[in-house]
Formats: sequence, structure tokens, C-alpha cells
Amino acid sequence: MAQFFPETLIQEIMDKNDIVDVVSSYVSMKRSGTTLKGLCPFHKEKTPSFTVSSDKQLYYCFGCSNGGTVINFIMQAENLDFTETVKYLAERANVDLSRFEGDGGAETTHLRSIIYKINSESAKFFYNCLFGEPGQAAREYLIGRELSKGIINKFGIGYAPEGNLLLAHLRQQGFDDNSIIQSGVVVKNDEGNVYDRFRNRVIFPIIDRRKNIIGFGGRVLGDGIPKYLNSPETAAFNKSYNLFGLNFAKSTKDDYLILVEGYTDVISLHQNKITSAVATLGTALTPEQARLIKRIKGEVVIAYDSDEAGQKATKRAIELLAGEDVVVRVLTMGDCKDPDDYIKKHGKGAFENQLINAKVQIEYKISKIQEKYNLSNIDEKVKYINELAAEFAKIKSPVEREVYISKISDETGVSADSILSEVKRSLAVTERKTKMEAFKATASVGVIKNINPKKANVIRAQKQLLNLISIDKNIYKMTINNLSDDDFEEGTIRDLFNELKIIYESGALPEVKLIVAQASNAAEIAEILHDNQNITDKQLAAKELIGLIAKEARLKQMFKAVKDDEIPSGQKLLELDRYLRKEVGNDK
Ligand code: CTP
Ligand code: MN
Repeated sequence: MAQFFPETLIQEIMDKNDIVDVVSSYVSMKRSGTTLKGLCPFHKEKTPSFTVSSDKQLYYCFGCSNGGTVINFIMQAENLDFTETVKYLAERANVDLSRFEGDGGAETTHLRSIIYKINSESAKFFYNCLFGEPGQAAREYLIGRELSKGIINKFGIGYAPEGNLLLAHLRQQGFDDNSIIQSGVVVKNDEGNVYDRFRNRVIFPIIDRRKNIIGFGGRVLGDGIPKYLNSPETAAFNKSYNLFGLNFAKSTKDDYLILVEGYTDVISLHQNKITSAVATLGTALTPEQARLIKRIKGEVVIAYDSDEAGQKATKRAIELLAGEDVVVRVLTMGDCKDPDDYIKKHGKGAFENQLINAKVQIEYKISKIQEKYNLSNIDEKVKYINELAAEFAKIKSPVEREVYISKISDETGVSADSILSEVKRSLAVTERKTKMEAFKATASVGVIKNINPKKANVIRAQKQLLNLISIDKNIYKMTINNLSDDDFEEGTIRDLFNELKIIYESGALPEVKLIVAQASNAAEIAEILHDNQNITDKQLAAKELIGLIAKEARLKQMFKAVKDDEIPSGQKLLELDRYLRKEVGNDK
């Protein structure tokens, strides 16, 4: 999946996608000079702290420290990875990407884009059939399932008629047979005859996060077999990497995604304004889908069918999602078959209650383990406790662990102490590891605190200076006459200084959006470079900043000398600390 794009392409894509245009369709902003301000789309706020700089082509939010170029913005806003974002913005600005791909790659890309067109044409065709004369029975079927016109439009639901009408239609639209076959909407049999794959079925288009139609699911109107027929895997359709409904659910305001089994469950929930539902595409949850979910939300409520297959699938999904560190809760359907069934029988409010009450993974596990044992039998009770103890040992929070232990103690009459000692056995290894980590962490924090009490001030000065350097060559010159790169804080700040240095020394002038675009830590760099500082005398400001940084560098050397002397002299350290406070000033 990963792909290499040359710098010139990234530049072209940024040039052709003005950040103000792009962001404006997500955020309503007020302009003052070259800066625009609005409510941040990435965190909840009442007063605007989200800014876009039109001349620097960068954005930054002071509230949540999110920032970067138009590319970073789309990555966040659309939940796409870098490659997907480049493609998305390329499409938006009509930039042809095929010239940047290897031969095979370019071919697949070309085929994929034809398949998107065929699928889109097919979806239109199916939709028109649904509302045309042949769609009568399908319309009645959908009405019977209580789907509104609005939701049919939203999901682009259609109807595939009998015969080979789609094939004829696509040929008439100028698509060649080979491409039509590769798209999977028609099938070529052993005799070489080509015919429509979907016949007399209700059609659910499967749409990816970039709003391309990548395939279809087709349901029989009654009880026929197979109930669902899906598009095959094609150059445009990889079942393991997509989820049905994600094109909508990715922008849900809920903190979680609801994972259901069926297309109809997703649609039914969305019709009830429950906007976070997604479904796998007729397969068990894949590791790729688990990772995809993780990138979008940190929490999942699994609402699979209540039958045995559904419960088995739930276990597997829990393992996969927990492995990705996603918080998993499980919703129980009671007497109902699936979410669609549930919401029809009990209504939206009841489903929302179930959502709130959905047990976190551990509770779900407890209830599952409990089902296995007959607790009136002593032997089985012991086994039950042992199995639970192993689960409890995996709980990270001691408080949470205690809660469950006392709960089980109440339920079984086994003393909390006995359960605890059982848990402790499983726990020994984990605990030793945790202690080691905690020890390491305190050790390093202690060192940093003692050596450098006024670090924040100096870092702020360094960042301000970098900002000034990036817009003024004279300030750059002033800086290198007084400071060297190791006077800058190691990491992002020093790297950025060196990068600016390379640019100036090569005779060029820095272009900040390109620097940010190429950074792996774009938000941090954007924070430093995006601001048009309201400083009247930039030279004077730079001079002061340079002085401050130079002083700090000297102090650091003094500290180092103390340390290297290996004299753990409390007195000396105290003196330096006092000096530092006076010279560098307070943090506040
Ligand atoms: N599925 C499939 N092929 C089948 C049966 C099921 O691909 N022959 C997939 C579909 O994605 C379907 C999901 O598995 O949506 C869940 O199956 P099921 O519970 O049988 O379908 P529902 O979505 O509940 O369908 P309906 O409400 O229309 O009966
Ligand atoms: Mn179902």
C-alpha cells in the first residue's frame, strides 16, 4: 500500500489545493489579514482557537495542538492515511498520478479508476430501475422493511432487474467488455457468455472513505438462496480493508463505532440517526479492519447477531480489537435476532439504552465464563474462580481489578482475599514488568527536572527564533554568527534549525509549507512556523532571543561541568539554580 511520491508532486498537490478553500468546506472561518479563525473541527470548543494562515498555507489549533499543511488536515478530517490523502487531493485538483507509479501500479490504478466509473454508472442504473417500472416488487419489499425514501437515497439503494440489462447499458455507455468483466458487475461463464451478476435483487452499493463505489451487495427479495450475493474481489474492491457504512460513520460525533453483521443493520441504525454503525462485508472481522477501526475510534461496541455464529464472531472480534488496544464493549440483543430486528421491536430509545449499558469486555467475559460452570458444584466453582483470576490479572487498573474481585466474592461467597491471592499468582510477572517501567520513568524525569528547571522558557524562545529565521534571511545570518546547532534543543527544534540552515546555505529561501509537508511531526513544526508574529521590530526581537538562548547554553555547560566533576555538590547546584531563575526568568 505504501507508496513513494516525489517532492514535486507533493508541492503540486499543495499548490493546487488551497488550504483556505479546502478547510472552508469543513470550518466556517473569519478572516483578519492573512489569518483565518474558526472553531476547531478536531476538538470541542466554544471560542475559536483554530487558525489558518493563507500565505503560509498552514493550519494550527491552539486548543488541541493539531496542525500542519492541507495534507495533514485532510488526513485528520477524512481519516485517511498519507497515500490515500495524496490521492484524494490529487483527484480533487485533477492531478494525474499515474505518471508517478511503476508500470504495474499505473495499470492497476488505471483499471481501478475505470471500475469506479463502471460501478458508479451501475449504481445509477440500479437506482433508476428501483424507481422505474421493473422496480415495483423491490420497492414494496423495501417499504415492508420500513426503509424511508430518504435512507434509500442516502445509501444509494437500487434494484437489479432480470436479464442482462446492465451489461447492455454499460456497453451503450461506451465501456468495453473486458473492463466490465473486471469490475465484477457481470460474469463470464465457461462458454464465454457474459451476463449480469445481479438479477432480481435489491442492491446495496459499498462505498469507501473516499466516496468511491467499490462494489455491491445484492439481496434476494424473498427467501431465495444465496440470500446475499456480493461483488468479487477486484482491483477496486478488497473486502478485508473496508467496512460497510464507514463513509458515513467515520464522521460520527459518537466516541465509538458500532460493529454489526449486516448491511441492513447498518442502514436501519443510520435511519434511526445512530450514525456510528459499520459492518464487515460478509466475512469475519479481519486484522486490517481492526486496524482501520483503531485509526478512527478507540472504542467499539460489538452488536453482532444473537445466534451462535454471531457469538463466536464476537469472541474473535474482541480478541482482534483488544489486540489493537481498542476498548471493546458488547451489546446484548436479548430476544432479538439482530440490531435491525431489535430497533424495530423495541425502538430507538431502547437500543440507545442497550448501547449505554453495553458491557465492557471484561464483564462480557465474566458472564461468558460463568455460563460454562455450575456454581453449586464446589469443583466447578473453583475452576470458575481460577479462570476468572487469570482474566482479572490482565486488568491494568488495580482499582478496577478490586471492583471485580469484590463483585465475584459477593456472588460466590468465596472471600475476596482468596480470589486476590489467586489473581496475584497470575499477576507476578506483569507486576515486575510494570515496576521496572515505573522505575525507569521516575529516574529519567528526576534527572531532567534537576538539571533544567527553566526549560520551557528557553524552548519558547528557540521556537520564536526559528519562526523569525524562516521568514528573514538576515535573522538567519545573525543567528549563525552567535549560536551553533547544539545550542538548540535536541530533537524537533534542532532538526528544524539544521533544515533551515541547509536551505539558506544552498542559496534558497525556505518554503514553510513544504518543510511541514515533509515532516513526520507536522503538527509540531506547524506550531512553530505557522504564526505571523505580531512583532514590529523583528531584528531587535531576534537579537534578544539569541541573547537569551546563548545565556542558557552557557548555563547548560556549567551544569554539565558540575556533573562531569562528579561532585554531587548540593551547594553548587543550588547556586546555579538561583542564578538560572534570576537570569532566565519564570516559566509563567
Ligand atoms: N452475508 C453474505 N452472504 C450470505 C449471507 C450473509 O455476504 N449468503 C453477509 C451480508 O453482508 C449480510 C451479513 O453477512 O449483511 C449478515 O448476514 P445475515 O444476518 O443473514 O443478514 P442481514 O443483514 O441480517 O440480512 P436481512 O436482515 O436482510 O435478513
Ligand atoms: Mn442479521
